[in-house]
Amino acid sequence: MKTPHLTLPSYYIGLMSGTSLDGIDAALVAIAPDSPPRLIATHVLAMPHALHNLLLTLCHAERVSFAELAEAESAFCKLQADAVKALLTQEGVTAEQVHAIGSHGQTIEHAPSGHHGGPAYTLQLDNPSLLAELTGCTVVADFRRRDLAAGGQAAPLAPAFHQALFGRQNGEQLVLNLGGFANLTWLPSDTNISVMGFDTGPANVLLDAWFAKHHNGRFDLDGAWAAGGQVDQALLSRLLNEPFFHQPPPRSTGRERFHLAWLEKQLTGHEMPNDVQATLAELTAISVAQGVQQLPLSHNDITLMACGGGANNTYLMARLAAQLPNAIFKSPADIGWPEDWIEAGAFAWLAHQRLHNQPGNLPSVTGASGQRVLGGIYAH
Ligand SMILES: Nc1ncnc2c1ncn2[C@@H]1O[C@H](COP(=O)(O)OP(=O)(O)O)[C@@H](O)[C@H]1O
Ligand SMILES: [Mg+2]
Repeated sequence: MKTPHLTLPSYYIGLMSGTSLDGIDAALVAIAPDSPPRLIATHVLAMPHALHNLLLTLCHAERVSFAELAEAESAFCKLQADAVKALLTQEGVTAEQVHAIGSHGQTIEHAPSGHHGGPAYTLQLDNPSLLAELTGCTVVADFRRRDLAAGGQAAPLAPAFHQALFGRQNGEQLVLNLGGFANLTWLPSDTNISVMGFDTGPANVLLDAWFAKHHNGRFDLDGAWAAGGQVDQALLSRLLNEPFFHQPPPRSTGRERFHLAWLEKQLTGHEMPNDVQATLAELTAISVAQGVQQLPLSHNDITLMACGGGANNTYLMARLAAQLPNAIFKSPADIGWPEDWIEAGAFAWLAHQRLHNQPGNLPSVTGASGQRVLGGIYAH
């Protein structure tokens, strides 16, 4: 009997550390032709306090020395390598079995429109050469700048992966990532209609910063502190005056626009701290709902897949459900992708796209002048 020809899947590792600076997410992903990527295994390495604080300082520093940049980059790269090694050991997979690591790097600043008329830039700390040496794997990195060079926002990049993962046949779908910032992807079922996606505004970045100012901890577990507060409507409307919330897509944002000082400028000083936390959760829920309203949905009842760390925040999710009463919330875990793993998975998939010279961006999302092969290869 003839053996049927089987196309074996290839292994890729996606490495993601987002604006929340909470840790390195390492995802082992199997990719085979003509089927959606499969999540095989995961490993999280929490960001040590010293590195978290150093990166946070760099994100908001007026001046940075090259030595500080190098120190942060090297420490970050070693943490990434440790995450990869732990993942491989845990799964009994060798470095030789991994086709490539897709490394997002750590965003320090994202200025797709430049500053004061200067050139557009987006800066991710990353050392793919060192990562290749430390892990023994080929590394693909620098995913964002080619899209930027082609006139795009360089963000969000995940929507192309959302399309590869969730497909377009199951009716109209929304994917919402609640990371440091929130971004929305619209996958219309009609494949003649382009996918849309954009950042809607801050999510965990302000919730974490305000929480950390008042507690000895990094985040408000399940939104319990926010749940005990009351939304301050006057503060909410001052925050919503920020022009970003009224900008049409393509749009993307980062810590350079939304940070603790931005929030504190809008406070009277008489607010109860947990009222501010409840107001920040409301700000995220409302700005996401406003983003949904900007989409040319064909009907109101829409499936929404929430992912990212913020999807674990029960209070935030309840506020989102209140703002989007017609949305049917689904978990990507139903198809084997727990909510925390979509972003890391995207960078495994982007590494695969790069090795196969396939585009990684969606011009309808980023505003780039065309599709582009994203990233550079650091072969091992
Ligand atoms: N159980 C939880 N309750 C509230 N917030 C949570 C919970 N789990 C995760 N988070 C939030 O998710 C964040 C991490 O989300 P993540 O998707 O990794 O963001 P990023 O992509 O910016 O790194 C944490 O900083 C925290 O704010
Ligand atoms: Mg994270």
